[in-house]
Amino acid sequence: MKIFHTRSGLSTYLNSKKTSNFSVGLVPTMGALHNGHLSLIEIAANQTDLVVCSIFVNPTQFTDSKDLDNYPRPIENDIAKLEAAHCDVLFLPSVSEMYHKTEQWHIDLGDLDKRLEGKIRPGHYQGVTQIVNKLFTTVNPDKAFFGQKDYQQFLVIKKMVDQLKLDVELIMCPIIREQDGLAMSSRNIHLSPKEHADALILNQVLKFLEENFKTQNLINLEKEATKILESSEGIELEYLEICNADNLEPVNSEDYPSLVALVAAKVGRTRLIDNTILR
Ligand code: PAF
Repeated sequence: MKIFHTRSGLSTYLNSKKTSNFSVGLVPTMGALHNGHLSLIEIAANQTDLVVCSIFVNPTQFTDSKDLDNYPRPIENDIAKLEAAHCDVLFLPSVSEMYHKTEQWHIDLGDLDKRLEGKIRPGHYQGVTQIVNKLFTTVNPDKAFFGQKDYQQFLVIKKMVDQLKLDVELIMCPIIREQDGLAMSSRNIHLSPKEHADALILNQVLKFLEENFKTQNLINLEKEATKILESSEGIELEYLEICNADNLEPVNSEDYPSLVALVAAKVGRTRLIDNTILR
C-alpha cells in the first residue's frame, strides 16, 4: 500500500495512474478502523480499479474540543488493517496540509443542517462538507463510499455534490453490526461491558420499528419507541425520529414513499447513533 502525506504527492500519483478506463474509489475515514470501514474498502475494491482510503481526524467537524482530543488515533493498527484489506493507497495528511489558518467555509444545507445531528452539533456538517470537498478535489474519485450509519451525513454530502455539481458518484454502504446487533463505531471502544450491553436497546428499538411501522400509526409508534428508550437503563436519549428518508423532514402521516428511523443517545460518556431504512 502506498502512503501519501501531501495533497500534491497524492494527486500527482493518481494523475499518473488515470487513463481513460481507470476508475478511482475514495473511502474517507477518521481512522480507528473497524469492520464497518473495512467493508467500505471491500465494496470500493469491487467497484473501482484503485481504492484510496483517507484517514484524517477533521478538527472543523468537532463541536467539542474534548471529543476531538479523545478521538482514538491507533494509526499503526489502522495501517495494518488497510494492508490486510489490500487497500491500494492511504492518504494520511496533517491538519496544516489540509487547512490554512484563516480559512472560511459555508455551504447552504437548508434544513438538513438544522435537524437531528445538525441541531445537536451545530456546525458539524459545515466541517464535514468542508473536508469532504477538499478530499474530492484532491483525489478526484469516480466513486466515493460512505456508511449508512451516518445517514444524515450521506444526505448532506449528496446535497453538496448536487449544489457544487461535483462529478462523483456517492455509494451508500450497509451498516455493519457486532454479532449482538450494536452498530460498529470507532467510539464503541470507549464503552464498558455494561454500557455495551445497555447500548443494545438502540438496535432493538429500531427492530421494533421495522416490525411495526406497516401496521401502526407512525406518530404513536415513534412515541412508544421514545418511551422505551427513555426508560432504558444507562441510556440518555437525544432523539428518536421517523423521517422522510429523502430529506429527513418529520413525518406526520402514513403515506411516505421513503422512511428512515434515526436514533442518537449517550451511553455513559459515549455518544452513539444508529438508524434503519424502513421503506
Ligand atoms: O464519517 C466520517 O468518518 C467523517 O465524517 C468523514 C466523512 C471522514 C469526514 O471527516
